[in-house]
Amino acid sequence: MIADIIVGLSFGDEGKGKVTHHLLKSGDYTHCLRYNGSNNAGHTIYHKGEKFVLHAIPMGVFFGIKSIIGSGCVVNVQHFFDEIRMLEDAGVTTEGLVYVAKNAHVITDGHLSEDTGDVSIGTTKRGNGPAYRDKYARLGQRADKISELAPYLIDTYEEFHMVERDVSVLCEGAQGFGLDIDWGDYPYVTSSHCTAAGALLNGIPPRAVRRVYGIAKAYDTYVGAKDFHGEGRAFDLLQQLGDEFGATTGRPRQCNWLDIKGLKKAVDVNGVTDVIINKVDVIRQASTWNLRMGPERSIMVQLGSEANWKRYIKRYINNPRNTERVNIVFSESPERI
Ligand code: IMP
Ligand code: MG
Repeated sequence: MIADIIVGLSFGDEGKGKVTHHLLKSGDYTHCLRYNGSNNAGHTIYHKGEKFVLHAIPMGVFFGIKSIIGSGCVVNVQHFFDEIRMLEDAGVTTEGLVYVAKNAHVITDGHLSEDTGDVSIGTTKRGNGPAYRDKYARLGQRADKISELAPYLIDTYEEFHMVERDVSVLCEGAQGFGLDIDWGDYPYVTSSHCTAAGALLNGIPPRAVRRVYGIAKAYDTYVGAKDFHGEGRAFDLLQQLGDEFGATTGRPRQCNWLDIKGLKKAVDVNGVTDVIINKVDVIRQASTWNLRMGPERSIMVQLGSEANWKRYIKRYINNPRNTERVNIVFSESPERI
């Protein structure tokens, strides 16, 4: 069994969807697994020239491979069926491809009505937090108790382990390190495990892990209640040039320079083997080659040119060289890596 993991290194919206889509094109995988979160996420991709935003169903469905919403996720059943219908209407076959782990939990109407986007956190109002709270309080409901889900249920132990054939899983994460329940800026976090470790909670044994693809953006963005947006016109410009509006809620994403210190921490804790830094084309249009050394109002490092900026990032991530070298890719297209 082989597993590659895609993990967000910032605050979500780094372009994980694009990288997932790109990796799936290789045809190397037998399964695609969403390992955390719910329809609070929004993964935007361009498939055969058409734009899609998926919130819950893993991207594997576009490539005809089994796509599983894992046990680390919570599922809004109504939304799940709506998303299947959206895909079918767009001509994407879902039959026999889309599954929900039988031990995933569901988001109830009660969870939804409780999650009013509490001003202190600024949630996506999808009932995500209350659903995880009830899971851990042992008051929740698992997917295998929901009769409409019966045709979609899967036992990931049987599927991944009790088979003779090769299993090769691409694990698709949601949100990112800065929103992780343990490593994020608590309480401005989501309620799930957004790290590579979160993928393992879905029946993926550690020794199966091959590559960990960490996704970041050339500048940081954040949606939620805390004050994150940098001061000055450069950040408004990045917001416009990068079309930084939430794929789930439409809220404008606050922008700031890329926190290189935070990025390094996320790379180390997640055991990232490959970093993909997206939207270099956007920051190039703004022509501001700056980085941040820590949280929102920390020291800014001005690198002056694209070459200096890239060199600084490469050195910072790979220093000290106490582990295997991390491969760093700068991406400058919404459709390609
Ligand atoms: P919740 O996950 O809806 O409880 O929201 C908690 C925090 O995570 C809020 O700041 C949300 O804006 C943020 N958040 C949740 N999902 C995403 C995502 O997919 N992208 C970016 N931010 C997210
Ligand atoms: Mg998103």
